Amino acid sequence: MDLTGTTAVVTGASSGVGAATARALGRAGCDVVLAARREDRLRDVASDVQNGQTLVVPSDVASEDDVEALVEDAREEFGSIDVLVNNAAVLIGDPVADADREDVRQQIEVNLLGVMNTTRAALPSLLDGDGGHVVAVSSMNAEYAAEGGSAYTASKCGVNGFCDSLRKEMSDEDVRVSVVMPGPVSSEMRDWADWEGRALDPADVAESVVFTVSRPDHVEIPEITVNTTDKLA
Ligand SMILES: NC(=O)c1ccc[n+]([C@@H]2O[C@H](COP(=O)([O-])OP(=O)(O)OC[C@H]3O[C@@H](n4cnc5c(N)ncnc54)[C@H](OP(=O)(O)O)[C@@H]3O)[C@@H](O)[C@H]2O)c1
Repeated sequence: MDLTGTTAVVTGASSGVGAATARALGRAGCDVVLAARREDRLRDVASDVQNGQTLVVPSDVASEDDVEALVEDAREEFGSIDVLVNNAAVLIGDPVADADREDVRQQIEVNLLGVMNTTRAALPSLLDGDGGHVVAVSSMNAEYAAEGGSAYTASKCGVNGFCDSLRKEMSDEDVRVSVVMPGPVSSEMRDWADWEGRALDPADVAESVVFTVSRPDHVEIPEITVNTTDKLA
C-alpha cells in the first residue's frame, strides 16, 4: 500500500523507536505528526523527516486534554489521521515489594491509559478516511515477563489486550489494528550496555512498523515480534 500523502501520528517521537518511526514514515511518504513532551527534541527529529510534511505537537499522553488537542491539531493541519502509532512509554523497574506507587501509577497512565486515550481520541478520524491503522509498540515483555518490571509488564499486557479487543470491534470497519513487540532496543529507555548481546537499533523496529502499515489494505498483521538474534527470551 502506497503511504504517500497519508497522515501518521507518532507518540513518543522525540527519541528512540518513535523518532526512527517518524523518519521512516516520512521516507515512505507520510505527513508526520510528532508528539511527546520535549518540544526541542521533537523539532530536531522533525527537521530530519524527508518527503512528508511535519507537525510538532508537544503533548503528554497521560493527559486526556493533551491527546484531544493532538488529534484536533493533526486534523486541522492535514484533514484526517490515517495511521496512529502509539509508541510513548516509560520504564521504571523495581521488584514488586520495593516499587514506588507513583512509579507504578505513571507506567500504567502513560503506557496503557495513554494508548487507550490516544486511540479513542483518534478513532473518529481513523474511521472517517479511506482506511485507518492503529499500531501499538508493545514489548516482548507482554509475553515473557521480566523480573523487576511488573508494572511495565502489566502495562504492555494491557496494551496487547486492548488492541485485541479493538481489532474485534473494528472487524466490520476499515481500520486495522497491529501490535509490534520488540525485544531489547538500545535507546534512552535502556541502553542494554550491561547485556552481553547486541540489542536492536530503533530503526529495526521502525522498519517493522512501516512494513506493517504498508501491507495491501486487505492484509492485517495482528502481531509482529522483532527480536535480536542474541535472544533474551
Ligand atoms: N528499549 C527497549 O529495550 C524496548 C523494548 C521493548 C519495547 N520497547 C518499547 O518501545 C517504545 C519506545 O521506547 P524507546 O526504547 O524508543 O524509549 P525512549 O527513547 O525512552 O522513548 C520513549 C518515548 O516516549 C516519550 N514519552 C514518555 N512519557 C511520555 C508521556 N507522558 N507523554 C508523551 N510521550 C512520552 C518520550 O518522550 P518525552 O520524554 O519527550 O515525552 C520518548 O519519546 C516504548 O513503547 C517501549 O516500551 C522498548
